[in-house]
This record gives sequence, C-alpha cells and structure tokens, in this order.
Amino acid sequence: MENEILRALHARKSVRVFTDQPVTAEEREAILQAAFQAPTAGNQQMYTILDITDPALKERMADLCDHQPFIAKAKLCLVFLADCRRWPRAYRAAGMEPRDPGPGDLLLALADTCIAAQNAVTAAESLGIGSCYIGDVLENAEAMRETLHLPAHVVPACMLVFGRPTSQQQERVKPARFREEAVVCENVYRDRTEEELREDFTLRGANVPEFQFDRYIQAFCKRKYESDFSREMSRSAGVYLKDFE
Ligand SMILES: Cc1cc2nc3c(=O)[nH]c(=O)nc-3n(C[C@H](O)[C@H](O)[C@H](O)COP(=O)(O)O)c2cc1C
Repeated sequence: MENEILRALHARKSVRVFTDQPVTAEEREAILQAAFQAPTAGNQQMYTILDITDPALKERMADLCDHQPFIAKAKLCLVFLADCRRWPRAYRAAGMEPRDPGPGDLLLALADTCIAAQNAVTAAESLGIGSCYIGDVLENAEAMRETLHLPAHVVPACMLVFGRPTSQQQERVKPARFREEAVVCENVYRDRTEEELREDFTLRGANVPEFQFDRYIQAFCKRKYESDFSREMSRSAGVYLKDFE
C-alpha cells in the first residue's frame, strides 16, 4: 500500500549534518504542537520538553552526550523529559497525600515522552526538517541533573536535534531493517533459533560490504554494547531509577 504518510515514514532517516538554514519560530511551534497531539496514558502528558536555545548549553549537552559535536550545530534542540512530578504536585496542591511515583509511573511516562518525541520527528519531516534522536542524554546523570536543573522523578528520555539535511545527508543510504518475521511473532514470544538469527542479521546486512555474521556482530558488540558509553548509560540510568524504588 502507498499514501503520503506511509511514503514519509519510509523515507525518514536520521539527519546529523545540517544546512545553515534556521528552523523558524513558526516551524518550531508546529513541531511542538504536533508533539502535544500524541496519545498519552490517561491524557496525562507525563513529559516536559526543554528547548535548548543557549549555545553554551548546547555545547555542554554535546559533551555530556558522549561528545557528539553535531548536537551543538542543531538549529533546534529539544530534550524530552519523562516527568513524574507534575501530577503528584497537583494532587498535593488539591490536598491529597499521594504515594511516591513507582516504576510503573516511570515506564508510562517514558512511553508518553517518546511517543510525543516521535510526533515531533514526523511533523518536522513534513516541513523538510530532519532530526536525530540522542539516546546518550541518559548518560552522566549527576552532571545532567545539575546542568538541566532536573529534580527527582524527572528523567531524560531522549533528546532530538533538528535542522535541514545537507545534500550529502539526503543521499545517504538509510540503514536496512530486519525482515518482518525477525521482529513479529504470532500471539506469544518465541526465541529465534540460532540459524534464524544468523539469517535475520545476514539479510539485514545485505548492503554492508562483505557482511559476515561473526565478524560484524563481534565488532558491533565491542563498539556499542561493551563500550564505555553503553556501560556509563546503564550506570547513569540506575541513578535515575533509584528515585522510583
Ligand atoms: C533511542 C534512540 C537513541 C539514539 N541515539 C543516537 C545518538 O546518540 N547519536 C546518533 O548519532 N544517533 C542516535 N540515534 C539514531 C539511530 O542511530 C538511528 O535511528 C538508526 O541508526 C536508524 O537509522 P535511521 O534513523 O536513519 O533510519 C538514536 C535513535 C534512537 C531511536
């Protein structure tokens, strides 16, 4: 099937190099308003969005997020915070004595936050503005809290950087996805057999030059999963999770 929205979803890819053209105030507003229209659990909108406009703060964020300099060059930079404070504060303001937020509240807030972020991505795309998620915003909890003045029960879910793609970025080949059977199970979960797993990855690696399962997976494991930044992210996430124990 094909239509304008399906075509846009298929065409979208991350953009990490931006032209000098700004994101206008009107475009920024359209992106934010689209984010607000996303579904949220109980319509609670358990998120707060930080619009990072201070160039020095953008530089600091680039540094704290695993030293990714393109962050500081973004024309619009939004940090999406899972916010488990707004409603309990309202409960208290209304004279209630609510329980502390727990893991369920955090998981729902994270879902709200990332769904809103993805609406922002799609809205930007419709305006010719590219974007890239920055998951490394979960790292360095202590410094991040201090830098962004984050109180307890407020957790950075993701950051989005926006700008218009350079022609090189427009031409870049979009990374391939797993085939459907690798990611869809009927009714209940089933582990892929090792043979299926190898085939899933090999088919996905079709446009990786000289793809070879063991070599590729070993290198990926070292570069990503076992990397310092990945270990730091897990440590840092544990700091935020302590609020929800
Ligand atoms: C939660 C999340 C975190 C990500 N973090 C980063 C990041 O820190 N730096 C980066 O350059 N790209 C990041 N990305 C972008 C992914 O690398 C990208 O989406 C993936 O490679 C697929 O490519 P595509 O978006 O072009 O289709 C992130 C994406 C997601 C969804």
